[in-house]
Amino acid sequence: MSNVVIVGAQWGDEGKGKVVDIYTEYAEDVVRFQGGNNAGHTLVVGDEKTVLHLIPSGILHPGKRCIIGNGVVLDPKVFIKEITNLKAKGYLQDDSQLVIDGNVHIIMPYHVAIDLAREEKKGDKKIGTTGRGIGPTYEDKVGRRGIRLSDLVKPEQFARKLQEVLPEKNFYLEKFFGKAPLNEAEIIEEYTGYAEILGRYLGCASIILDQSIKAGKDLLFEGAQGALLDIDHGTYPFVTSSSTVAGGASIGAGVGPRHLHQVIGISKAYITRVGSGPFPTELLDEMGDALRKAGQEFGATTGRPRRCGWFDAVAMREAVRTSGITGLAITKLDVLSDLPSIKICTAYSYKGELLDHFPRDLDVLKDCHPVYEELEGWQSDITGARTLEDLPKQARAYLEKLCKVSECPMVLLSVGPRRDQTIQISNPFAG
Ligand code: GDP
Ligand code: IMO
Ligand code: MG
Repeated sequence: MSNVVIVGAQWGDEGKGKVVDIYTEYAEDVVRFQGGNNAGHTLVVGDEKTVLHLIPSGILHPGKRCIIGNGVVLDPKVFIKEITNLKAKGYLQDDSQLVIDGNVHIIMPYHVAIDLAREEKKGDKKIGTTGRGIGPTYEDKVGRRGIRLSDLVKPEQFARKLQEVLPEKNFYLEKFFGKAPLNEAEIIEEYTGYAEILGRYLGCASIILDQSIKAGKDLLFEGAQGALLDIDHGTYPFVTSSSTVAGGASIGAGVGPRHLHQVIGISKAYITRVGSGPFPTELLDEMGDALRKAGQEFGATTGRPRRCGWFDAVAMREAVRTSGITGLAITKLDVLSDLPSIKICTAYSYKGELLDHFPRDLDVLKDCHPVYEELEGWQSDITGARTLEDLPKQARAYLEKLCKVSECPMVLLSVGPRRDQTIQISNPFAG
């Protein structure tokens, strides 16, 4: 019996949603522990596609409880849209299936306005955020002026907190960015409506999860974004504003670290990035375009084209170390199927020096050139493979190499977006 943490091992969009949906079968509770609706997690069951931004990817399994942990920042409008869509599709028929922790911070209209205005003002130097107000909401959390769900559900407290903070936000928006101020009465009216709906799901993640642990049930923690977007360990400042590494699960769900047993790092068989920032293996040629086309690499949240590149084992070793990854789930191997040969980056070359480690200094990282090993492709359709033995020998050799240079074993392989297009090699919950 194990509790399992799922993290993105790259720059996001690795296929976390798909893997969480599969692993939900083994867990009692599925918990999102950080991020907000900057995430877009895609699940494909049969021919039906569902994209989730906030609600844990276990929600398609009736009877499994999904929890939005305290580490998440929540935009009520997006949440309500998401539950409405799920209910219309026949999911979430029982509201007790979903719980939002009262300490979740609420994304307010000024957070979104500041995020957008800041990016606009930065011009070429922009981070390329999703524009969903994520950074400004986490700033207010750490600055101790945030509004939490537990405030939102108390109308007087909510109004008082908003009255305290709004003049400062409007000053900033008007005087620094030259944008229109926001109206207090309008915000109160809008958010009072949200409070009533959100209040139905209010609970305490830490207590619920403790009860499950004491009852001997297993937990599944769902990370958003990826290790290289972590606020401390990522390619700062081109990162998101939360702890995306596995340690974030403890803080963002209120569960002590001794209860986190296995960490599964999700990685594509190549790599992508959305937004700005260094990307050593990026392919700016037709090969990059071919990967984008074959992998349909367009953001699930913003629709932006994703930057594409060869698998980067230097970056992966960084993720394995900072999250303590115990097993890899490799996705989108099928996307490489047409290629006559495939490259893997095993080290970087920096001014004639060979680097094994991912440099922390961005000035160094941006001048790193990938050192590649080239492997033979398999050039056949693998989407029907259901065991490793079904794969062509070149595909198996590629995976072996990938795991060796990543210094981590593989526990799951995905050969297509659908739930059934999956090969489970070992079960992390059984450990
Ligand atoms: P997440 O943010 O990590 O959950 O990933 P996204 O949902 O943003 O992006 C992953 C995309 O790849 C989604 O469109 C998935 O449906 C798709 N996907 C996941 N696994 C596979 C796979 O093995 N093969 C292919 N072709 N697509 C996959
Ligand atoms: P999932 O969970 C890919 C990126 C943005 C930008 C940076 C900061 O689907 O993997 P933010 O809006 O968080 O302040 O933007 O982080 N980013 C993601 N990239 N997948 C995501 O989520 C992302 N969430 C944020 O593109 O570069
Ligand atoms: Mg995504």
